[in-house]
Amino acid sequence: MARIRTTKNLGQRVDRTYLKRLYPIPLWRRILTVAGVLVALLWLGIYAVARNQTPYTSGALTPAHAFLGKKCAVCHGDSAGIGKKVDDRQCAACHDGPVHQASATFNPACVSCHVEHRGDVRLSAGIDAGCLQCHANLHTKTGVPAVAAKIDSFANHPEFAKKASSKDATGLRFNHQKHVGELSQKCADCHAPAETAQPASQHLSKGGGRVSSHALITIPTYAGVCLPCHALTIDDKLTELAPHDKPEVVHPFVQAQFTQYIAAHPGDLGKDGAPGSAKAWVDFKVAAAEKKLLEETCTRCHTFTAPQGFATAAVTPTAIPARWFTKGSFDHSAHKELTCASCHAKAATSTVAADVLLPGIGVCRQCHAAGSASAGASCSTCHIYHDWSKEKPVEGKYVIDQVSRLNP
Ligand code: HEC
Ligand code: HEC
Ligand code: HEC
Ligand code: HEC
Ligand code: HEC
Ligand code: HEC
Ligand code: HEC
Ligand code: HEC
Ligand code: HEC
Ligand code: HEC
Repeated sequence: MARIRTTKNLGQRVDRTYLKRLYPIPLWRRILTVAGVLVALLWLGIYAVARNQTPYTSGALTPAHAFLGKKCAVCHGDSAGIGKKVDDRQCAACHDGPVHQASATFNPACVSCHVEHRGDVRLSAGIDAGCLQCHANLHTKTGVPAVAAKIDSFANHPEFAKKASSKDATGLRFNHQKHVGELSQKCADCHAPAETAQPASQHLSKGGGRVSSHALITIPTYAGVCLPCHALTIDDKLTELAPHDKPEVVHPFVQAQFTQYIAAHPGDLGKDGAPGSAKAWVDFKVAAAEKKLLEETCTRCHTFTAPQGFATAAVTPTAIPARWFTKGSFDHSAHKELTCASCHAKAATSTVAADVLLPGIGVCRQCHAAGSASAGASCSTCHIYHDWSKEKPVEGKYVIDQVSRLNP
């Protein structure tokens, strides 16, 4: 059969309504365009009306800054906002953000850490990205960093230095195992939560550490804890105990005690193999008593450098730090629900004071991990950034109308 190809035939193949018809893809494009605009307007409306926020920011100001309201210009500069980057100088008008480390290679912008418009979130919470701009690959002005150079998360955090080195350099003798184990003493019998008043800046310590008044546990003193069981008896004849002090202070005290005693008890002269004169008796008794102090009584807890006997002996410094993790800001009061042994298991078996009884990082990782279903593992949970000892005073420059949302 021959093909019949007339103009009419060909013309009938063309759909003359083509341009007027809506095919699925263009149809949906139109619907989505309109719907998209409506949803956006609705969303802006909900934000503007229902949640009473300024719609063109991404969220409310942090509670500490909420008083500023629509005074956008105090942070964004004169043009009141949109599109304008926030300059460090705007922040500096109200408060100082002191340096972190003098050896840092650059001074990061405030907003690289303190991101606004996140609503009810503290400006210093969850700002790891700000820290990692340096700590993921740390460089210093002086060259090789003194601390671990690659820390990009708590999961990849190095072990605590104090835990890894197993001994510390204390001159004190002490035996936890004897007191806790054999004598069944409780930790709290010797270690009370620190009640010491904090420096003027309240929550920020002199060295920059953020500490509550219960952050640290006290190390017992001799006078506060040990004295009742370990009295510094000089001699059976004397009722007074030796003062707990340097040998150069104890020595004249001991001499005076024996001098007073023999004046009151002259009948004791010549007894116990002591020489006859009062002066010789005192010298004899002092020498014997001080030999005992040096070799037994004080030496139970101390070591000495004693070139010429007790009077000139020097006590090896006890050198027990109040704060062990000086680079972190551990706080006992945030962990008071735990037993002491959960973190200080070694305390029950340690027999020498030089043992380090502190927990390793594995203990912390049982609770502190990334994600919302755990205790925080953000760098700022455990570390202070600013060196607050270098904070500069701010001279206020605003009048109330310029900053309070209540005075529009
Ligand atoms: C307390 C200071 C502060 C105030 C007040 C403030 N902002 Fe911001 N704003 C910031 C910071 C910080 C950023 C984030 C850093 C940047 O982008 O420079 C930011 C970012 C923005 C952005 C960029 C998008 C975003 O959310 O990240 C917009 C838009 C904005 N602000 C609008 C406003 C408007 C409008 C107001 C007034 C209602 C306002 N801001 C008030 C500090 C402030
Ligand atoms: C108009 C003054 C003003 C400006 C501008 C301002 N702040 Fe504040 N800021 C305050 C006041 C007031 C507080 C609450 C009192 C305090 O802690 O000093 C505060 C608190 C803070 C806090 C602690 C509260 C929190 O949520 O963590 C941080 C951090 C902070 N500001 C950072 C900044 C940064 C960064 C900028 C610049 C983007 C800035 N501020 C701009 C007045 C201001
Ligand atoms: C601009 C770069 C920079 C940023 C950002 C930075 N650091 Fe550092 N950090 C350093 C330098 C440099 C050192 C000192 C290294 C050295 O001593 O060799 C340091 C030291 C430290 C140390 C050891 C402290 C000590 O006393 O020796 C800690 C902990 C620390 N930073 C935590 C943080 C945290 C947490 C953040 C984020 C809130 C942060 N850093 C942000 C540069 C930075
Ligand atoms: C009889 C008093 C006494 C008792 C009871 C006692 N301690 Fe101690 N503790 C000390 C003394 C003294 C020091 C300082 C000397 C030293 O470092 O061992 C100390 C130091 C510590 C240290 C820090 C020093 C380091 O080397 O790590 C920790 C941690 C500690 N004790 C935990 C405990 C725990 C936990 C218990 C209970 C299981 C406990 N102690 C019971 C007296 C006591
Ligand atoms: C409740 C009484 C009591 C208290 C409080 C006490 N101790 Fe003891 N301590 C003892 C007894 C009992 C012994 C074992 C008998 C002995 O050696 O005298 C002992 C033994 C010691 C020893 C020798 C351990 C060994 O290895 O044999 C040292 C060192 C010591 N105590 C230091 C201290 C220090 C430091 C304090 C204060 C922080 C203290 N003690 C508080 C009762 C106490
Ligand atoms: C039962 C244990 C014990 C006995 C016994 C003891 N001390 Fe101490 N001594 C301590 C403790 C604990 C400290 C650290 C805390 C404090 O100052 O009370 C200390 C601190 C000292 C210091 C301060 C040194 C420093 O580095 O902090 C001197 C000096 C000292 N003792 C001298 C003596 C002399 C002298 C004797 C004997 C007459 C003596 N002690 C007996 C437990 C003892
Ligand atoms: C759960 C608590 C915790 C978290 C989270 C944490 N750290 Fe640490 N970090 C510590 C403690 C404790 C030390 C040991 C301090 C010491 O030895 O004085 C330390 C030590 C450091 C040091 C010194 C290391 C060295 O070589 O001496 C740096 C730097 C540091 N951390 C940075 C960071 C950074 C960056 C982050 C976030 C990615 C972070 N840390 C998260 C607790 C923490
Ligand atoms: C969640 C773990 C944890 C628990 C629970 C805990 N500690 Fe600690 N403890 C630490 C860490 C970490 C340090 C080092 C902190 C520092 O000095 O920076 C420390 C330090 C200490 C010190 C040395 C002084 C100081 O405060 O730095 C003593 C003493 C001490 N702990 C006793 C105790 C006693 C007693 C308990 C029980 C009431 C206890 N700890 C519970 C983790 C813990
Ligand atoms: C039983 C779980 C648990 C363990 C183990 C634990 N923590 Fe915590 N820690 C918490 C909780 C819960 C908080 C409070 C919530 C928060 O700040 O995320 C906290 C808070 C903290 C804080 C902030 C304290 C404050 O209030 O400023 C620091 C710093 C900290 N922990 C360090 C450590 C270190 C270092 C270790 C290991 C030696 C450790 N934690 C072990 C559960 C734990
Ligand atoms: C690398 C991150 C980082 C940078 C950059 C940074 N901060 Fe901070 N800032 C923190 C952290 C973390 C805290 C929480 C307390 C601390 O660590 O000192 C904080 C706390 C603060 C506080 C609140 C102190 C309080 O009382 O709670 C103020 C105010 C502040 N910063 C201002 C500034 C200013 C202004 C700048 C810029 C000059 C700045 N910060 C730059 C991380 C940073």
